[in-house]
Formats: sequence, C-alpha cells, structure tokens
Amino acid sequence: MVCLRTVDAAVRQQVLGLAPAPRQARFSGVAADTLPAAERHHTRQAVAVLRDEQPVGFLALDHADPICRYTVPEPSVALRAFFVDAGVQRQGIATAALRALPAFVTRQHPQAQCVVLTVNFVNPVAVRLYRRAGFVDTGRMHLGGAFGPQHVLVLPL
Ligand SMILES: CC(C)(COP(=O)(O)OP(=O)(O)OC[C@H]1O[C@@H](n2cnc3c(N)ncnc32)[C@H](O)[C@@H]1OP(=O)(O)O)[C@@H](O)C(=O)NCCC(=O)NCCS
Repeated sequence: MVCLRTVDAAVRQQVLGLAPAPRQARFSGVAADTLPAAERHHTRQAVAVLRDEQPVGFLALDHADPICRYTVPEPSVALRAFFVDAGVQRQGIATAALRALPAFVTRQHPQAQCVVLTVNFVNPVAVRLYRRAGFVDTGRMHLGGAFGPQHVLVLPL
C-alpha cells in the first residue's frame, strides 16, 4: 500500500538516500538536496512516499511558493521536487501517490482549493502521469526553470 507522510525522524535517514535515475535528477532534484532545502524553508513541508511503510519517493508541498500565483484568487498548494526512487519506478508508485495526494493536502492545508505544479515540456512521462491523475493544463507557460519551458498544471481539490 502506498501512502504519504510528513518526513519525521523515523524515516528521514532513509528518505535522504532516495533519488531518481541520474538523467532524471534535473526534473526533481535528489532527496539529499531537496529534503534539507525543504526543512530550511519555513513554508515548505517535506513529504515521504511510503510503500508498505518503506520510503520510496519524495515530494514537497509549499503554500507560499511563487507558482501559487498562477491560481489566484484560489488559494493553492504547490507540489515540488516529486520523484520516485530509481530502483522502484514503473511499479505504479507515482500513480498511487498522486491518488493519495488530494486527501493528504486537504488534511494539511484545509484552505487550499487546488494543487499547482510546473512540469518541463521535455518530461512527457511526468506530464502524462499528472494528466491521468486529474491535473488540468492551465495553458500557461512557466519560464523560471533551468531546463526549458514548463507547463502549469492544476488539480482541483
Ligand atoms: C515521473 C515519475 C515520478 C513516475 O514514477 P513511477 O512510479 O515510475 O510512475 P508509475 O509507475 O505510476 O507509472 C506511471 C505511468 O508512467 C509510465 N512510465 C513511468 N516511467 C516511464 C519511463 N521511464 N518511460 C516511459 N513510461 C514510463 C508507466 O508505464 C505508467 O504508464 P501507464 O499508466 O500507462 O502504465 C518517475 O519517473 C520519476 O521520479 N521521474 C523523475 C522525476 C520527475 O520527472 N518528477 C516530476 C517532476 S515535475
């Protein structure tokens, strides 16, 4: 079973060892960088993806991220740095994690009306994954990333 849990002392060390494949790291970073960065950031919440209680992926939620401006006037939460560990990809974990996302976000951020994210044009696997999870393309283009333009996708809660 796949679920989401705020990173705590019980899983932190294992989460730090998680990473996507090296060629994918440009899309999400690796937990050795993104987990400490989330912890330093006072509006960012570090979240572990667990399968059968074992950490297998990572994401961060941020209700004050600059990309939240794309949903104004609706309050949103940004999804950042999402990846599944290279060793367990293509087993349905990301799909299951995104299925668990709305209930998790609503519990943590009851004011949020949607989840917003940006995804690189050159990352079609992730674009397809998000669309199948219910994210809708806003048609806007985000140009802030280091690896080319990004779609802005929104999941209504
Ligand atoms: C995108 C990512 C999270 C998907 O994780 P995952 O657990 O492997 O995804 P799933 O197993 O749920 O697969 C979802 C779909 O994507 C497809 N897929 C996954 N990896 C794929 C790959 N490398 N090539 C082609 N298709 C792929 C699966 O076949 C599946 O398709 P289906 O629903 O038709 O069966 C993972 O590849 C990853 O961590 N990538 C690097 C980081 C990244 O790009 N994050 C997104 C940042 S916005």
